[in-house]
Amino acid sequence: MSLKEKTVDWLKKNGPASLDGKTVLVTGANSGVGFATARIAAYLGAGVILACRNTEKAERAKDALISEFPDARVSLMKLDLADFSSIDAFAESFMDEKTDVDFFINNAGIFRQPGKKTRDGFELVIGTNYLGVYRLCERLLPYFETLLHPVTLINTVSLIHKIAKIEYGDFYYSKKYSDLAAYARSKLCLARYTYAAAKKHEGGNTKLGMTQPGIALTPLGVNAFGKGVKRLSKVLGRAFNSPEKSALAFAYVAAHNVPPGSIIGPTKFFGGWGYPKPNKVIRRVKEGADELMSFTESEIARTEKERQIRRIERFEGMMDEALRLMSEPDADRERLKSLVAELEAYYTGRDWKKDFADDEAGLLPSELKRGVLSEDGIDALLDEYNEL
Ligand SMILES: NC(=O)c1ccc[n+]([C@@H]2O[C@H](COP(=O)([O-])OP(=O)(O)OC[C@H]3O[C@@H](n4cnc5c(N)ncnc54)[C@H](OP(=O)(O)O)[C@@H]3O)[C@@H](O)[C@H]2O)c1
Repeated sequence: MSLKEKTVDWLKKNGPASLDGKTVLVTGANSGVGFATARIAAYLGAGVILACRNTEKAERAKDALISEFPDARVSLMKLDLADFSSIDAFAESFMDEKTDVDFFINNAGIFRQPGKKTRDGFELVIGTNYLGVYRLCERLLPYFETLLHPVTLINTVSLIHKIAKIEYGDFYYSKKYSDLAAYARSKLCLARYTYAAAKKHEGGNTKLGMTQPGIALTPLGVNAFGKGVKRLSKVLGRAFNSPEKSALAFAYVAAHNVPPGSIIGPTKFFGGWGYPKPNKVIRRVKEGADELMSFTESEIARTEKERQIRRIERFEGMMDEALRLMSEPDADRERLKSLVAELEAYYTGRDWKKDFADDEAGLLPSELKRGVLSEDGIDALLDEYNEL
């Protein structure tokens, strides 16, 4: 596989001369526009980090990139945007490892998933495309501000945000589900958030912007509408952008000093196809961010509390089991050892501090704070275990 001649020509005229020495992270990089973005970044000489939920698919994408660009620096990270604990683990390891990145591209997204929910219980499409990306950005933005060079954070929206509405009474369309409306809402929320965050960070180290791929022939549409989409694209010829053409939006951002909060994507046929250019940012993207942010924060805090409680209950159960095993002469020593190791890791890690020592948001009920997992409780367990 190699980039199309037209892509290479466009890049020569409109792209950055080179991204040698830069690092580009792409989420959902194993497929569609994300994979094409990773290919363009590698072609331009950048190191590429593929952040994917499925390790096997990510490995295959990495192999394909290396076979096309044998000198490319390609690495993998695991990230599931439909699971806040995966997002938090990703962000923590990203920061702990002091990962360097010049372009962070939130490309991953889904469409048409009726009846499905994220791990934290949100409608899957809005939960992934908006809440997941929002959480990831909010976790990483303070870190980006500490890097010694500018970082460009690009969120991928869709032209459909133009017809979306945000209504807080039934934010997740739980009364009457419409997959198209839920998808459109997820992308309008993401656009509104990104635009507001771009303004907030103006003058800082991080520049935020957006791309929209137009209508690109990728598994997203094929999975939602069936293989007929492929046949339709053949009949209509240019009706769909290739993923490669849509991915050029990233190269446009890398080469031009676009204003923060811009949306870059095709402009022909109402934004459906063509090469990338700046799109108009409409009023519904620019307005209403305060209400959206406070709604989003309260949604996340609600699940944060539930997660903290679930986590504490799990570790309390483990503590009870460990105490019981220590009092049994014929106890399964391996099981006891692994329980104690896990409890110790929790106790010395960030989660315990968040749950007990800081509990910054004051989320936990006081009876949980007094539970067996208190500092004294864990110290006593470890002392007793070490004396066995
Ligand atoms: N194609 C279009 O016409 C079009 C139009 C407007 C906007 N977009 C947007 O463009 C982006 C790329 O879409 P695409 O068309 O290239 O679709 P795609 O080929 O289906 O790629 C989507 C990628 O997102 C990943 N993903 C899905 N759920 C995830 C999760 N929970 N955590 C992490 N990764 C996840 C997928 O991983 P798996 O392979 O494991 O599923 C895949 O790598 C999306 O944000 C989409 O909304 C596309």
